Order: sequence, then C-alpha cells, then structure tokens
Amino acid sequence: MRSSVRRPVLIGGAAAAAVAAWWWTDAAPYPYAQRWLLDLPLPFLTNRRLDALLGARPGERVLEIGPGTGLQALHVAGLLGERGRLDIVDVQQPMLDHVMRRATAAKISSIIPAQADARELPFDDGSFDAAYLVTALGEIPDPVAAMRETRRVLKPGGRLVVGEFLDRHFVPLVTLLGYANEAGLRPSAWLGPPLAYFARFQPS
Ligand SMILES: C[S@@+](CC[C@H](N)C(=O)[O-])C[C@H]1O[C@@H](n2cnc3c(N)ncnc32)[C@H](O)[C@@H]1O
Repeated sequence: MRSSVRRPVLIGGAAAAAVAAWWWTDAAPYPYAQRWLLDLPLPFLTNRRLDALLGARPGERVLEIGPGTGLQALHVAGLLGERGRLDIVDVQQPMLDHVMRRATAAKISSIIPAQADARELPFDDGSFDAAYLVTALGEIPDPVAAMRETRRVLKPGGRLVVGEFLDRHFVPLVTLLGYANEAGLRPSAWLGPPLAYFARFQPS
C-alpha cells in the first residue's frame, strides 16, 4: 500500500523538477504563439518610467532590441517625431511583422525593422543616441556580448536602458551591473523596485 502511494508522489516530484529545470534554464526566445501576454502592461515596468530614464527626444535615432509585439516601440516611436527613427531588432521575424502591422494601423512610419541577433547588430559604430531592451536581455544566450554590441552602436554619451521583471529570464540588478561592467558601460540611474526595475547605462 505504502509503495503504491509513494510512486505517484515520486513521479509528481520528478515532473515538477523537470518543469522547474526547464523554467529556469530554457533560453529559447519568447514564443510568438503566446504574444497576447506581452500586450498586458507589467506592474512598475511602465512606459512612463522607461521615458524617465531613456529621455527620447524628437529627431533622435533610437534602437530597441527584442520589441516583442511593440508595447514599448509604438510609444517610443511617437516621441521621436517625423525626423526621428526607431530601429527595432528581433531574432523572430513574426514579432517584427506584428509590430509593423500595428505601426501601419497607427500611421507611424518611423519604425524600421531588422531581423538580427542582439549579439551581432547590423549597424555601424556610433549610430544611435539611445537604445533599450525590456524583458529581453535574459533571453539572449550571451548577455555581455549583447551589451558590448549595443555599446558599440551607441554614440559617445549615448544612453542604454534595460528593463527587467521577475519572470523566468529575470536578470537581477546586481547581475546586470556585472554584465555592464564587463561590457564597458557604467550605470547612471535606476528606477523601480528590485523585482521590476529600469536601469540606465552610458559608455564608460
Ligand atoms: C519577452 S519578449 C519582450 C517584448 C517586449 N520588450 C515587452 O516588454 O513586451 C523578448 C523579445 O526578445 C526577443 N529576443 C530573444 N532573443 C533575442 C536575441 N538573441 N536577439 C534579439 N532579440 C531577441 C524575442 O524574440 C522577443 O521578441
């Protein structure tokens, strides 16, 4: 009797451990099939807070890495005005297509998509006034390489804002500060509670 009770408990425990291992170690990009979840605004990780650190101004050229469905992209593009430009880079073409459909519907023409990996950006050195990633850095297999590459494409004095939220790819602030140091970026401000924060960096 006892061993017949124990077996389902053991199987349940093993299944829970397997799910936990997948949850914490899987590095696949966020699935497009679950895109509807990306449209739900996250507590504390608001566009208002992103604006406060990014400081996007009309006429600037800004880069977003990992735009997902465009929760931040459509907002930031609106701040850049007609002379500004928002380049969006994602490894998944369906995500870029989704943002561009939304941009067309909103009559925004300043968003330029490029399918690429954040570790190898298709831009010249010093191309951007500012760059940002929101809940994307933890999905990139080598976050230091991505931050180093983002630093390369920033102008001297440019700004990089990273937004992180406690999901399964969460990057704690202390870890992010280590990555930034390795990538040659220094922190200049952060905002929000430790489990849902924005942090700003500038080239050292
Ligand atoms: C969780 S979504 C975040 C979307 C959006 N920023 C938001 O907050 O709603 C992460 C995005 O990063 C993209 N991504 C993952 N790995 C990437 C990589 N190596 N290079 C570029 N984009 C990547 C995914 O395809 C996805 O669109």
